This record gives sequence, structure tokens and C-alpha cells, in this order.
Amino acid sequence: MKILITGGCGFIGSHIAVKLIESGYDIIVLDNLANCKKNTLEKITQITNKDFQFYETDVKNYYELRKIFLENSINLVIHLAGLKSVSQSKSNPLDYFDNNVNGSINLFKLMNEFNVKKIIFSSSATVYKDGNKMPLNEKDSVKPNSPYGQSKLMTEKILNEISLSDNEWRVIILRYFNPVGAHKSGLIGENPTENSDNLFPHILKAASNTNKQISIFGDDYNTIDGTGVRDYIHVCDLANGHFCAVEKIMQVTDNHNFVTINLGSGKGYSVKQIISEFEKIIKKKINSKVVQRRIGDIAISYTDNSFAKKYLKWDLKENLYSICKDAWNWQIMKNKK
Ligand code: WQD
Repeated sequence: MKILITGGCGFIGSHIAVKLIESGYDIIVLDNLANCKKNTLEKITQITNKDFQFYETDVKNYYELRKIFLENSINLVIHLAGLKSVSQSKSNPLDYFDNNVNGSINLFKLMNEFNVKKIIFSSSATVYKDGNKMPLNEKDSVKPNSPYGQSKLMTEKILNEISLSDNEWRVIILRYFNPVGAHKSGLIGENPTENSDNLFPHILKAASNTNKQISIFGDDYNTIDGTGVRDYIHVCDLANGHFCAVEKIMQVTDNHNFVTINLGSGKGYSVKQIISEFEKIIKKKINSKVVQRRIGDIAISYTDNSFAKKYLKWDLKENLYSICKDAWNWQIMKNKK
């Protein structure tokens, strides 16, 4: 069975690729390498000892994308390819709608043409409305406050309409919370080519270089210690969630052909709690300074993950300690190069 992973060279995609290869699946990776390093592909092979097909192309390129469907009989698509920075999306909304929505429409049209009607779509917790009661669940109101979040919700809606028009389609929407950590080997991890505005890369930089300082974006939120609380999920737990979704979507018995699932750890940790967990692991202080809130940030976001556990027969294997330890191990391996 051949699985096409769009964006399969990226942080989350590469971990999914490893998990699926190790589980005996035959994968094809498509990536335009806009936000990942090509040598990640060799690392996937190094970890799994397996080769796989790679296409360096962009989902926006309809005819290049069509070649992949012409040259391979694909059974299922895991669609991760897209732009993912909330702040960047506010200054470049058109880029985000072009890449994330138009690119997805290209993919869905080709899936339809080649009768590939199973898809697992990488969506985001940023589709939820600010102010929902915590913990979040899949029935909570959605109202994204960024073009990035809007592009994810639009794509979910397109898939829903497709699944209503043709019940041969099987769609699983996975709404990610905050994917962090790295593979235990230290060979793959978060390796953005562009400057990431996320917490973990910033903490790792400050932890690796005493001249660097992590800015804490506000400590006056109504949370345990005033700093922002998020649901950090180990990227390997997230990859395992995709493996469970692949197994689930292949079962023909389920007549519910459009399912939305929150993939998070079910726990919320504050910025200060994350920093102190790292300090325990690296056994030294991390330079930090409280600054003003980041525009658009919400105080707290974490999910009830009971539906994911029940529907996908999935469970978490990692915790905050292993998340930070594996992220630090990855940073050390990266610094060695
Ligand atoms: C986490 C917390 C910040 C950096 C992002 C993306 C979204 C989604 C999840 C995919 C917040 C604080 C951060 C820093 C800080 N991914 N922070 N200093 O904003 O929850 O969501 O990941 O869909 O794409 O929006 O993650 O890591 O940016 O911030 O204090 O230098 O850390 O205020 O409370 P966020 P983040």
C-alpha cells in the first residue's frame, strides 16, 4: 500500500515517514524544501535503513503534482505541505491562501481524478475561537484569528464538502496542538530554514548559548504563573497518532467518512514551567527576560484528547521530561555538525 506524504521532509512529516516505514508501509515523500533541509531524507533512511521515493515539487505545481499520481498507484495521502507561521501569515495572507488552500485544491482534484479517496489532513488548534472553555474538544467553536488558521479551516471545510458529495471519500482531520521534541536518535528534529517564532527553538538557542536570552512574552496572563500555557505534544506521539489514523482509515466498516480529531497531550504547561524543565535537564540556568505580550497570543490552550485515544486506539508514550530531553539531545547533535 503506497502512502503519499506531502511535506514529508519537514519536522512533523519526517517523523511520520519514519514511523510508517518502520510499520512496513511503502511511502512517497513530496516536499518543495521551502522549510526543511534535503539531508533530512538521508536521515530518514539512516534511521529506518530503507529507501523511499522523493519528489522535490510543490503542491501548487499542478502538472508536476500530476506526474506523481501518473507514476505511482497511491492508496492514501497524508497532507502536511503548507506554510505554518501565524505571524508570517498576517503579513503575507495571499501566500498562505495560495499555498495552503490552492495547493490543497490541486491535490484534492488529482486525488479525485486518480480515484485516491483517503486522506489524513494536518490541521491546527489555531482554528479554535479564543475564549473557549479549557480543555478544548472537537465540538468547540472555531474562529481562527490568523490567515494561517483561516487557511486550515477553509481546507477542512473543502474536505467536508467533498466527503458529503461522494461517500467513497474517507477523511480524517487531525488538529495539532504544539508539536515539539525530536526523534530519540537525535538525527531528525525541528530544523526550520526560516527563523521560527516558536518557543522551543528559542529556548534551545538560549540554552546553547549563554549570550542568548529567551524573551518571555508576557507574565500577566490569568494562568498558573502568568505566562502562556500550551499543550506540547512530543512529535513521536504525534507521528504515532498518524500511524493509528492510517490503520483506522483503512477499515472499511466505519461509515462515518469525515472525522475531526484533536491531537494533543491533554496537558497544559506554562512558558516558565518549560524553561525550568530544560534547566533541570541541562543543569544550568537559562537566561530569560519578561517582555510584553506577543500580539495575537492567547493565554491558554490545551485539549481533552479522550476522543483521539478512543477513536484511534492511540495513547501517548512521552511526557514533558522526554519532550525536553529529546529536544535538547537533538540540539546537541545539531551543534556537533
Ligand atoms: C508558545 C508559548 C508564547 C516564543 C504555534 C503556532 C501554530 C501551531 C502551534 C501548528 C506562547 C510563548 C513563544 C518565545 C515566548 N502550530 N513564547 N517566547 O503560538 O502556541 O502556536 O504552534 O499549527 O502554528 O502558532 O506556539 O511556540 O510560538 O508559543 O514566551 O520566544 O510560548 O507567548 O505562550 P503557539 P509558540
